[in-house]
Amino acid sequence: MIILDGKKTAQDLKEEIKISVASIRENNQRPPHLAAVIVGNDGASLTYVGSKVRSCEYVGFDSTLIQLEESTTEETLLEKIKELNQDANLDGYIVQLPLPKHIDEEKILLAIDPTKDVDGFHPSNFGRMALEMDAFIPATPFGIIELLERYKIETSGKHCVVVGRSHIVGRPISILMSQKGSAGNATVTVAHSRTENLANLTRNADIVVMALGIPEFLTADMVKEGAVIIDVGITRVSDDRHPKGYVIKGDVAFDEVSSKSSYITPVPGGVGPMTIAMLLKNTLLAYQRKL
Ligand code: GUN
Repeated sequence: MIILDGKKTAQDLKEEIKISVASIRENNQRPPHLAAVIVGNDGASLTYVGSKVRSCEYVGFDSTLIQLEESTTEETLLEKIKELNQDANLDGYIVQLPLPKHIDEEKILLAIDPTKDVDGFHPSNFGRMALEMDAFIPATPFGIIELLERYKIETSGKHCVVVGRSHIVGRPISILMSQKGSAGNATVTVAHSRTENLANLTRNADIVVMALGIPEFLTADMVKEGAVIIDVGITRVSDDRHPKGYVIKGDVAFDEVSSKSSYITPVPGGVGPMTIAMLLKNTLLAYQRKL
């Protein structure tokens, strides 16, 4: 069994991006600039956005954190988005999800300029991705593809079962892995909460992508010997023994599944760090496309 080390791979990617930024700066050009908008005080969201901003600093990007109060109106947020769309010194930005309930997420995502949509959430980018055109690919599926490529995992002709159909992970990864190209050409089944006999599907899968958000859902009896296991789950589970009061759990019962698998991503340290690295990569691409 080989651990797909997302932490190390993400670090390698960041070093590559850092070198590109250094050469941009040496040519006396401004570096890539990413902004992140967060509305409210959700603990997990603040942690993720904090990591994104720190990673920007690490690779030499400019970064701007825009923190808005929970009570911010949809109108105010749309104004902010208009401002960001018009800012010529900004290459890309993200609006951290989920947004407070009084804000229409769809309306917000539609307002983002697709050329600055480094999350790849705008329908224009999603559609372009599905049509195999140049597009910003959402960071989490993009990170999974990058991991599969860097570890030279064969996907062509393999049966891949994706568990979860979210717009951010399940749906896009299922599209990408069925497309032509590297880390593609797989036969993909998308399973979800209404799927019957899920274990029968996962037991026949060469590759399982878990993007469900239910801690330790995938157990050893549900996978076949030698399967590749990609775990996208990150759930905070209360644990008084831990100083933070919680532990992070994936969708896979790692200890029992890992011994049956050929490759597996750990949680934490698997897909999570890749997501941040790919956001940086998308920002660099946004910068380069503008030149
Ligand atoms: N919430 C959970 N994942 C993401 C992400 O990749 N981008 C944004 N903007 N919000 C998220």
